[in-house]
Amino acid sequence: MKKLIIVLIIIVLGGNLLAQKYENLAQTPPMGWSSWNKFGREINEDIIRRMADAMVETGLKDAGYEYINLDDTWQIDRDDEGNILVDSTRFPSGIKALADYVHSEGLKFGIYSCAGVKTCCGHPGSRGYEFQDARTYASWGVDYLKYDFCYADMDGQNTTASYKLMRDALYKAGRPIVFSICEWGTTQPWLWAKDIGHLYRTTIDITDCSKCLMVTGARGWLNILEESAPIWKYNGPGHWNDPDMLEVGNGGLTPTENKSHFAMWCMLSAPLMLGNDLENMTPDVLEILKNKELIAIDQDPLGQSAYRYIQDEEIEVWIKQLENDQWAMAVLNTSETEQDFHLEWNLMYMTRVFQKEFNAADSYKLYDIWNNKDMGTTAKPLEGKLEGRDVLLLRLTGE
Ligand code: GLA
Repeated sequence: MKKLIIVLIIIVLGGNLLAQKYENLAQTPPMGWSSWNKFGREINEDIIRRMADAMVETGLKDAGYEYINLDDTWQIDRDDEGNILVDSTRFPSGIKALADYVHSEGLKFGIYSCAGVKTCCGHPGSRGYEFQDARTYASWGVDYLKYDFCYADMDGQNTTASYKLMRDALYKAGRPIVFSICEWGTTQPWLWAKDIGHLYRTTIDITDCSKCLMVTGARGWLNILEESAPIWKYNGPGHWNDPDMLEVGNGGLTPTENKSHFAMWCMLSAPLMLGNDLENMTPDVLEILKNKELIAIDQDPLGQSAYRYIQDEEIEVWIKQLENDQWAMAVLNTSETEQDFHLEWNLMYMTRVFQKEFNAADSYKLYDIWNNKDMGTTAKPLEGKLEGRDVLLLRLTGE
């Protein structure tokens, strides 16, 4: 009897030891580029190589971007043994060679698959091949897997079980791979995915507008920002809310909107996955994407997301706790017309929201990040004007 109990304990513990994701990955929100927003199905190895080159040449790599991620449609079929086959007309050198190329530039390589039998574009998914696919990715040198949920929801697959299965497969394959869950927020992954993936999509797809809702369900960054407000607490090192890849520089946003979209993603501690053509960027787009102060806010080691402190019709104020008693604050004009704002500081109120006790006498220096200038302190109300869709981004430092 004793022997049986010991054997059972070993089996249970052994199972638990396997049931884990790779720890110590994505300790700050992952940064990189993905093919989907700009190129959609029109991808090939030449484009991916060129984007990797541009990542280095533009200085984006030095600014912290590291992943080059291939999204849907690279896969075409399976061979008789079930191995996934790459579309050789578009990727004649194969995925391993592409990953090697990306690695040779000091970058990391990401790939895409799906928990269902097919991907969202109808290419072969991983259902039934999870362990085999994970071994293949590991042998190719993949560093990041985005795992979608098309043809799985329709078949009634259990979401959590599907993602646990792939997590276990990746762990078993033996290569540390960042696991990016993409079930579009349907089953509130912020409540269950922390120990399964390193990031989890919180909404349906982003599209290239500020505020809009397409028939497909795709939506603008302001719509997604709205959905992100209530879930700000479910974020932290190794497990990130993912409000989707950036649309900055894709043409649908004005220069001001590009700036505000990027700033608010940094306030959310969102993964910063660029979605534009890195070879053809205007200087102002590149300047936004390389803004050191903003990237530092996104990558702050505390890993907190921003809390929406004020929500008026047009003006919103978001506050984010940073390490060493610093704070980031965004005053955002969500409307299309110029708006005045007037903010009475109430630091005591913040005591209720954040893990810090404020005293009535506390005061912070204000620094305007876009314009590189000091803006006084919290001793006086903050007033100003913002053009339509503009954002004022401040760093608050204790005096
Ligand atoms: C889904 C995902 C997108 C993209 C496409 C590819 O819609 O949410 O981000 O990966 O699939 O087909």
